[in-house]
Amino acid sequence: MILRYTLPKETESAIDLKDGEKIYYAVPFDIAEDGTLARDSFFAVTTSRVFVLRGNDKKVIDIKDIDEAKAEPGVGGGILTIRKGNAWEVLVHYSSAHLSRYAYVARGINILASGRFEKVESNEYEKTCPVCGRAILGTKNCPHCSGQGGFLSVFLKMAKPYKKQFFGVFFLMIMAAVTTLLNPEIQKRLINDVLKKNGDMSTAIVFLSLMFTLSAGIVIVNVLKSNASARLGARIASDLRTELFEKYQKLPLSFINDRRPGELLNRITHDTRFISDFMADVFCNLFAVFFIFIWDVIFMMILNLKLALLTFILVPVVSAIMISFRKTISRIFHLQFKKDDDVSSDLQDVIAGMRVVKCYGKEKDEADRFKVFAGELAQIEKRNERFWAMFDLIVSFLMGMGVVIVVFFGGSDVLKGDMSAGELYQFITYTLLLFQYVGWLGRLPREISRLTSSLERIYDILAQNVDEKDEEKLVDLDIKGEITFDHATFGYKSYQPVLEDINAVINPGEMIGIVGASGTGKSTLINLLMRLYETDDGKIKVDGTDMKDIRRKSYHSQLGVVLQETFLFSGTIIDNIKFSKPDATISEIIRAAKLANAHDFISKLPDGYNTYVGEKGYTLSGGERQRIAIARAILPDPKILILDEATASLDTENEFMIQKALERLTSGKTTFAIAHRLSTLNNADRIMVIDGHRIAEFGTQAELLERKGIYYNLYTAQMQ
Ligand SMILES: Nc1ncnc2c1ncn2[C@@H]1O[C@H](COP(=O)(O)OP(=O)(O)OP(=O)(O)O)[C@@H](O)[C@H]1O
Ligand SMILES: [Mg+2]
Repeated sequence: MILRYTLPKETESAIDLKDGEKIYYAVPFDIAEDGTLARDSFFAVTTSRVFVLRGNDKKVIDIKDIDEAKAEPGVGGGILTIRKGNAWEVLVHYSSAHLSRYAYVARGINILASGRFEKVESNEYEKTCPVCGRAILGTKNCPHCSGQGGFLSVFLKMAKPYKKQFFGVFFLMIMAAVTTLLNPEIQKRLINDVLKKNGDMSTAIVFLSLMFTLSAGIVIVNVLKSNASARLGARIASDLRTELFEKYQKLPLSFINDRRPGELLNRITHDTRFISDFMADVFCNLFAVFFIFIWDVIFMMILNLKLALLTFILVPVVSAIMISFRKTISRIFHLQFKKDDDVSSDLQDVIAGMRVVKCYGKEKDEADRFKVFAGELAQIEKRNERFWAMFDLIVSFLMGMGVVIVVFFGGSDVLKGDMSAGELYQFITYTLLLFQYVGWLGRLPREISRLTSSLERIYDILAQNVDEKDEEKLVDLDIKGEITFDHATFGYKSYQPVLEDINAVINPGEMIGIVGASGTGKSTLINLLMRLYETDDGKIKVDGTDMKDIRRKSYHSQLGVVLQETFLFSGTIIDNIKFSKPDATISEIIRAAKLANAHDFISKLPDGYNTYVGEKGYTLSGGERQRIAIARAILPDPKILILDEATASLDTENEFMIQKALERLTSGKTTFAIAHRLSTLNNADRIMVIDGHRIAEFGTQAELLERKGIYYNLYTAQMQ
């Protein structure tokens, strides 16, 4: 989402920047105070001031006078208000198109007002194009306005390692073109020199066998060429798939979470397939067609200039039609792909949630809903195909007209004796070739659009900046376990903090219980500890080193986690346990399983440790899955252990046993344990209560009970 628009010149000059002052945010607003539409109106935030700019009007406020800024959503839009002391003032009104944009800006102002600067950024997609106002469908760039530089760079990059293969295909293309162009010449000779009165049968046979050899040559070369470029396409597609997959692994979780799985999946499957299809069906002919086309035109002009020019009149007409449709074509493909994403996402959702669907008896409803989606997709596809059918029809009609012209004027030339019958035949063959390729070229925009739409969607992912830290500066740390939260602030949407200004020092080896109502941010806190997200502001330090400066691999190898939602990969139980330490020996795995109280039930399974657990391990019970996850967490003997409701799905007996085991395990490890059942936290050294985005209480159990605050209330409620 754009937070820094390019301002029109007059507006930009209305902001009289002082020394060292910089514009951080500049966003448009589209509603005037009286509720009418506002044009050319911008709201800008600099290092020290905010500006409301409407035409020649300008209002300037010093940020140091602002105590708080708020973006308040209303019906159909929202307002940005600021507070000075006790007085609230409305600065701008905007439509709903800008709701989240102003939320980001308001947060930016608040940070500036607190005397700091930290760039508020947004990786949300724009819903409409800021240039043309059209809806953007699922990519960063508007298909209408984008400079199309993106797709070209992807294409060149992916083609680079295959220079040799490209050259091979290119050579075969030229061969195909030459053989195709030779054929009409031989046909002409056959008609003019042999097929006449007193013609010689043996020469005719020579010509015929020549024609046969040439035709066979054309077929062979074409087969080789298609084959080579199909292979090339498959390899390029496979490269891109790998690259996309690798990128998905590197992208921040927030990026992946903001997008639907079907959309991400389609880019790896559908979009790369379009590329290999394009290579196999289109690219292999591309240069051959241009080559033939050019020589075809030259030969026609040599044969009969007047006739050639007459025929060519139709070419610009066809070209004009093609060009005029180009943008429409690009848009309809984007639309089709977007719908395709919808369908895939829905499908995935329903398959993943099949148990819920079935137990509420909603099979029919879901099928109906899917039918609507699929119907819409079919509708769009149908419309696109209709468009192409019309397009093809126009092109074919014009081609037919061309042949009629040639036969009419060429025929009269033959009758007048200006042209031989063989030449007319040759000319007609060239004309048919010409039109065949004009037709092919006419379909080219469709293929190119399909390709560029796909490339653009792929580029959209590949071009995402992954904040790759300078490897040199990162450190491998032998973690002791001291964790410091230093004004840590984080929100999934950076304008809406879930945790704000968290400060705490946790000693090495301490066990911290985290308590709080549902949705207060306990899991979020440990998401930060796991480095799934980075703090928007402030730091989390491990042994005094900023977590961001520790090499990920080094950090994660010393971290053990059991998450609220246990996830098991498709594979054997061994695979799942040793996911955290691939080189673990069997005896280490069994030891971890024993500690996690999982060994007994695993041994009773038909295949023991080699039992295959399907996607999400559906064949195991919730408690069994959780115990496998615990074994996975403790296998590498981590320095920091994170337990998010780790024993929630266990019965009291099992929980007690695991508690005992964990007690032994957690000694010497810094442990964070989230629990709703407070009895599980009996051996916690200190307890952290999270409430209202902050740490509300923090201390030993005895201290917190004495305080008679939130923890005390929770505790007494559970004791009853
Ligand atoms: N990926 C996400 N994107 C956006 N918002 C999120 C995301 N995950 C959690 N939230 C929101 O952040 C807030 C804190 O969620 P969190 O999962 O940390 O709660 P919790 O304290 O662990 O709750 P519970 O006890 O129910 O597990 C909630 O309001 C939730 O809606
Ligand atoms: Mg949680």
